[in-house]
Amino acid sequence: MPPRIALYPGSFDPPTNGHLSIIQRGLKMFDGLIVAVLKNPAKDELFSVEERVQLLRGAVNDKRVQVKTFSGLLVKFAQQEGVNAVLRGLRAVSDFEYEFQMANMNRKLDPEIETLFMMTGEDYFYISSRFVRDVARLGGEVRGLVPQNVLEALKKRFK
Ligand code: PNS
Repeated sequence: MPPRIALYPGSFDPPTNGHLSIIQRGLKMFDGLIVAVLKNPAKDELFSVEERVQLLRGAVNDKRVQVKTFSGLLVKFAQQEGVNAVLRGLRAVSDFEYEFQMANMNRKLDPEIETLFMMTGEDYFYISSRFVRDVARLGGEVRGLVPQNVLEALKKRFK
């Protein structure tokens, strides 16, 4: 049987412990993961795409996990990579509508690609990259919410 690989896409600006938890749990379900960082030149980005890739690589450090970038449609990238499973974390009811729409849109674009959701662990359901960015920017403590290398990068960015 060929190895089962899933795509774990996101913005990861910055990667959080919630993301890492999904990666670790995803590796129990799949032989490998491709963490796919969206190249979206958003005006309010904190870390560049290259920085995010480096932060993810530094935080994960597992041969079964590859970190890549993509632009354009997620389903096209999945097709290019020969992957038919997309993994997403689901934190709360508020995530549901957006995720439900996205999963259905992606299935409409390519019915062969399935989106699988993992419920975020109870320690992580309130963590989002946006809150981490805001709290760090305003001088709040984000230790415990992000991996050590991200913590250091945030401290450098906002010192
Ligand atoms: O971490 P995020 O910001 O919630 O991740 C969102 C992401 C990157 C998964 C989503 O924006 C995406 O897949 N963008 C690529 C464009 C695309 O395929 N759009 C059609 C699906 S609605």
